[in-house]
Amino acid sequence: MVLRPPEISCSTAQVAVIGAGNVGATLAQRLIEKNIADVVLLDVVEGRPQGVALDLMEARGVERHDRQIIGTNNFADTAGSNVVVITAGLPRRPGMSRDDLLLTNGKIVLDVTQKAIAHSANATLIVVTNPLDVMTYLGWKTSGLPAHQVMGMAGVLDSARFQTFIAMELGVSINDINATVLGSHGDLMVPLPRYSTVNGIPIAKFLDAAAIDRIVTRTRNGGAEVVELLKTGGAYYAPASAVCVMVESIIYNQPRILPVAAYLDGEYGLNDIFIGVPCRLGCQGIESVLELDLTEPEQAELHTSAESVRQNLDQLRSLLGNVGVSF
Ligand code: NAI
Ligand code: 2OP
Repeated sequence: MVLRPPEISCSTAQVAVIGAGNVGATLAQRLIEKNIADVVLLDVVEGRPQGVALDLMEARGVERHDRQIIGTNNFADTAGSNVVVITAGLPRRPGMSRDDLLLTNGKIVLDVTQKAIAHSANATLIVVTNPLDVMTYLGWKTSGLPAHQVMGMAGVLDSARFQTFIAMELGVSINDINATVLGSHGDLMVPLPRYSTVNGIPIAKFLDAAAIDRIVTRTRNGGAEVVELLKTGGAYYAPASAVCVMVESIIYNQPRILPVAAYLDGEYGLNDIFIGVPCRLGCQGIESVLELDLTEPEQAELHTSAESVRQNLDQLRSLLGNVGVSF
């Protein structure tokens, strides 16, 4: 019996994952094993993306899915991607100052974004590299893409951590918990207990103020808590899950409402900044930014968070300016 290839070739969505480290490799696994998209996994280290891709292809014999993954060091292989995800960059290492990290990751994000978007001019860009809000702004400027096609991943992860800690505290299923975190990715993020519910019932009906404060603090410290335990790197399973749901929403045009680092043009009284807010995603990227009614203290926390992002952005402009790059 001869099996002829189909006469019309069908195209599957393709995601370029830049950086084949812990987050990139885990994201690639999630994307193909959930049958969401084909993946081109790229890294600067020779052999690393090829090895991860081969290992994941071999797992298909057990996992039984039809998605393809290739590993490469060549940006030309990422051509025509629908979504580009930037995970390339360093986590902060002992002896490295914040400025060192800003400059090192700034140069990496600048370089890889330019090269990736040169081959996928209509892609939606998702930035993961830290410091997240600043790197997303840099990715936007570098890519030349419209702002709605650029977003950063942090809010989905921070909200997932908030939801997890609420579910653990109450001993109820995570399926019944919704929680929202706004603001920058870091100590100054803004978890919103008022907008967090157990199947629609505000968490304040179940938890007293001290318990809520404890959960909020643990959420703000969520990344650091994992780093302290792992000792050799940061979280990657939950971060990869968070990016995966964003990619799925875009590729399948699911109008999900998710908190992402989005460009603000007056919303929440903020301008010319990427910061975490709830957005409706879809095939165009960010289809709309949702403006929640905030109390004065919540609004003040969001503005303090935004101020820290601006300071980081100014710092990055000055550090890159010293090496002849302006953005
Ligand atoms: P990792 O060190 O495991 O992987 C980073 C990868 O980037 C390495 O394989 C490295 O070779 C590659 N890379 C470095 N420079 C490159 C270049 N110029 N071109 C292509 N690849 C390059 O780090 P991990 O854990 O995967 O984290 C990656 C980044 O994501 C870090 O900046 C981390 O802080 C950030 N992150 C952000 C989260 C968020 O919520 N936004 C959550 C988790 C991590
Ligand atoms: C996290 O929150 C380090 O951004 C990373 O786990």
